[in-house]
Amino acid sequence: MTTIPVPVSHPYEVCIQSGCLAGLGEHLLTLHRPCAVAVISDDTVLPLYGAAVEESLRSAGFSVVSYAIPSGESAKTLQTYGEVLTFLAENHLSRTDLLVALGGGVVGDLAGFAAATYRRGIDYVQIPTTLLSAVDSSVGGKTAVDLTVGKNLVGAFHQPILVWCDVDTLQTLPEAIYRDGCAEVIKYGLLGDADFFAYLRDHHESPDLTKIIARCVAMKRDIVCEDEFDRGLRQLLNLGHTFGHAIESCSHYSLGHGHCVAMGMAMICRAAAVRGLCSAETAAAVESLLTAYGLPIESPYGLEALSAAVLSDKKIMGGSLALIVPRAVGQCGLHTVPATELRDWLRDGGAL
Ligand code: NAD
Ligand code: GLY
Repeated sequence: MTTIPVPVSHPYEVCIQSGCLAGLGEHLLTLHRPCAVAVISDDTVLPLYGAAVEESLRSAGFSVVSYAIPSGESAKTLQTYGEVLTFLAENHLSRTDLLVALGGGVVGDLAGFAAATYRRGIDYVQIPTTLLSAVDSSVGGKTAVDLTVGKNLVGAFHQPILVWCDVDTLQTLPEAIYRDGCAEVIKYGLLGDADFFAYLRDHHESPDLTKIIARCVAMKRDIVCEDEFDRGLRQLLNLGHTFGHAIESCSHYSLGHGHCVAMGMAMICRAAAVRGLCSAETAAAVESLLTAYGLPIESPYGLEALSAAVLSDKKIMGGSLALIVPRAVGQCGLHTVPATELRDWLRDGGAL
């Protein structure tokens, strides 16, 4: 078992191992007395892994009820959130009972928000089952649901008491969803670890997922510990996301988030190279790694559509926006760009 401590305001551990679902209940007993547990999952993941989680919890003395939300981002709503809260109340969960979020980032964010707010907050465990949720959303305590006017607009910071990552669950991921997660993995290499970037390049045909997840989680942990409540440094995790979100929005969310982040990363690297902020070799190395992982590097949307989408993004404040810009592989920084220069950045990034 690879264990990564996360010493934030409410410290916890991220435990990563192949085949560890069966050991969840026993491990949880070291953190919590036997109690009622609500397993919140989605209607794809619960049939795959619900029984293993329920059996492990029951054999350790926990009582278990399970609830599946519809799978996919369209379920990350106030309505589904309300339905989960109602389920918790109908099953008489008390403040000292537990919630387990079993699934990808949608389940983790929504169930985490339910845990943050049900009876003013109960403890919860994250069991990530997508690569994206393993390396990103399950760690750091950001929970949220979407509104029709925008993503993640209602939420809370609420750290889990444990993240329990069974790498074997990733084997059932559809290829495109797995690749979405690969984009976030590559993001960590570009952001802060040139050796890890080289490892990803050299092992793209048979990556060691436990090692990869552990490295990404440790990097996210370091950033979150410096800026738990997202007041500055944590924005670095948005590398590739400003242009990526614009592409995602232009596609009306038909393109996968990670695929859009991949295009966003390639664009910001090209634009940085044009400005001499990083070398052309850095931009080429990033494009080549994204391509090796089956990810796109060119936006299907042009300059007009992308600049309109970025300008309507919530992160623009006071006529400028903070872009995360690479200086070299493994070195990135925040760069404040006037909104008036945005079109130039997009054009230099390759938008036509
Ligand atoms: P997701 O949760 O929608 O999962 C993608 C699809 O994969 C779903 O259809 C799901 O049912 C299916 N699935 C999940 N695990 C599976 C498995 N093991 N086998 C087969 N199918 C499986 O999407 P995601 O990419 O995991 O997460 C995206 C969400 O994460 C977004 O809502 C985003 O806002 C959020 N997010 C949050 C944070 C954070 O810090 N809280 C960070 C990044 C992203
Ligand atoms: N994924 C962004 C964050 O956790 O801050």
